[in-house]
Amino acid sequence: MNIAVFASGRGSNLMAIINAIKEGRLNAKVALVISNNSNAGALEIARANGIDALHISRRQFASDEEYIQKLLHELKTRNIELIVLAGYMKKIPPEIVREYQNRILNIHPALLPAFGGPGMYGINVHKAVIDYGVKVTGVTVHIVDEEYDHGPIVMQRVVEVRDDDTPESLAERVLKVEHEIYPQAIELFVEGRVVISGRKVFIKDEN
Ligand code: GAR
Repeated sequence: MNIAVFASGRGSNLMAIINAIKEGRLNAKVALVISNNSNAGALEIARANGIDALHISRRQFASDEEYIQKLLHELKTRNIELIVLAGYMKKIPPEIVREYQNRILNIHPALLPAFGGPGMYGINVHKAVIDYGVKVTGVTVHIVDEEYDHGPIVMQRVVEVRDDDTPESLAERVLKVEHEIYPQAIELFVEGRVVISGRKVFIKDEN
């Protein structure tokens, strides 16, 4: 299965996906990486691994229409079947969400629906978690719909919040879990084991 990864930053989740493919834990091909940020580490990682890497930002286009057509063109010409958001800080245009309905995944560094929504990304999430005083946080992999951090949940894992955690120490432990479960969640799609029923996602047993 050809997948596209959208990433805005350093790209450690992209790296985890590439490693999982190399090690045979994920039967997919990253055929395209797109970033809204020309300096994104994710673009460098892609290029270093021989993956097409494009800087595409709304600002490069005169209209939403042209921007969306460009994204769709790049996705379609590479037969992309699944879009994976990995630290992508822009909202996916609704036209793309509709075109790739139930075929766009996002990873969020907390247990949604807590600590999600606009402005909740990266280290901000872990700061909010610590400030609120919750005892557990974690990782959520979910399907992208037209609302921010809202679509059906595919996988979640819990990470304990320690009394002496800083946003950075917590981010580090959460990130390790992200790297573990994102390739697993993607592989479930590749194997056709994901059944979506309204808000609920069921995973079919392995054959
Ligand atoms: C990850 O922690 C990811 O969960 C988070 O951004 C980081 C990207 O790191 N995403 C969000 O906060 C989305 N709301 P990476 O570039 O090293 O993969």
